[in-house]
Amino acid sequence: MGLSLAKGLVKSGKYQPQQITITRRNVRALTSLAEAGYQVTDDNAAAVSQANIVVIAVLPQQLNNLLDTIKDQVKAEQHLLISIASGVMVQDIINRLGLEVPVVRAMPNTAIAIQESMTCIASDRASAEHLEKVKELFDTVGETIEIHEELMTSATALCACGIAFFLRAIRAASQGGIEIGFHAAEALHMAAQTAKGAAALLLVNGSHPENEIDKVTSPKGCTIAGLNEMEHAGFSSALIKGIRLSSVKAGNLYVKE
Ligand SMILES: NC(=O)c1ccc[n+]([C@@H]2O[C@H](COP(=O)([O-])OP(=O)(O)OC[C@H]3O[C@@H](n4cnc5c(N)ncnc54)[C@H](OP(=O)(O)O)[C@@H]3O)[C@@H](O)[C@H]2O)c1
Repeated sequence: MGLSLAKGLVKSGKYQPQQITITRRNVRALTSLAEAGYQVTDDNAAAVSQANIVVIAVLPQQLNNLLDTIKDQVKAEQHLLISIASGVMVQDIINRLGLEVPVVRAMPNTAIAIQESMTCIASDRASAEHLEKVKELFDTVGETIEIHEELMTSATALCACGIAFFLRAIRAASQGGIEIGFHAAEALHMAAQTAKGAAALLLVNGSHPENEIDKVTSPKGCTIAGLNEMEHAGFSSALIKGIRLSSVKAGNLYVKE
């Protein structure tokens, strides 16, 4: 996720690779990025001391260790921290650092790799300017909205986990397509482009799904027959229940210690 953000920033033309330092422990895996002009290192403390904006993009279970290694370098007047770690509150980071530093949480999704992320940002401990800066960064890799921090776990379920939910729906549609006569590759392509068209109808027209569904469903027709069959099998209910469970899980990913 961190790498996708870095690449998106450069692709937007607003930032040069030379302005971005990427760290990971296995620094050899960053060789191609060094060749592309990014600064790469496994020294988090050195990277933080030279930066103004620090994006924390490690797994929740790796976070405490990371914060402990940069603790002495973080300065409230120098740094803006952006955490994309799921389930970690702004207050958790401030507590671990023992410092009132501006922290903004961001929840992108994997479509960040193709500049199509739906990113939610939140903080009650950062200024409007800081939030605007974070929005500007994530706008380079998709759409960004500001939400209240208590809704961050819900945003994780709906938008970050949501990528998998919609992908599974597309896979299921393609499997149906195979059963009614298409080869696997063409069925998948047809299902994916149809899903893209359905989403675009909502985003471009600003309409409600049921308005668009009404346009496809003729009386006694084949679409309403298929749709109702899916609903009898629990289609909407399954999606709603899955999102609710993911939201509960998303709130329990981080162990404070
Ligand atoms: N994937 C999603 O859909 C998604 C969506 C929204 C938010 N998130 C959140 O984004 C975060 C990253 O997720 P991801 O999917 O990108 O995970 P990932 O692929 O496992 O990336 C984590 C990276 O952190 C590096 N790392 C771990 N400890 C480090 C340390 N002490 N210093 C420097 N680098 C360190 C790892 O490299 P080394 O092992 O080489 O150090 C790895 O490159 C997670 O907190 C996740 O909850 C994920």
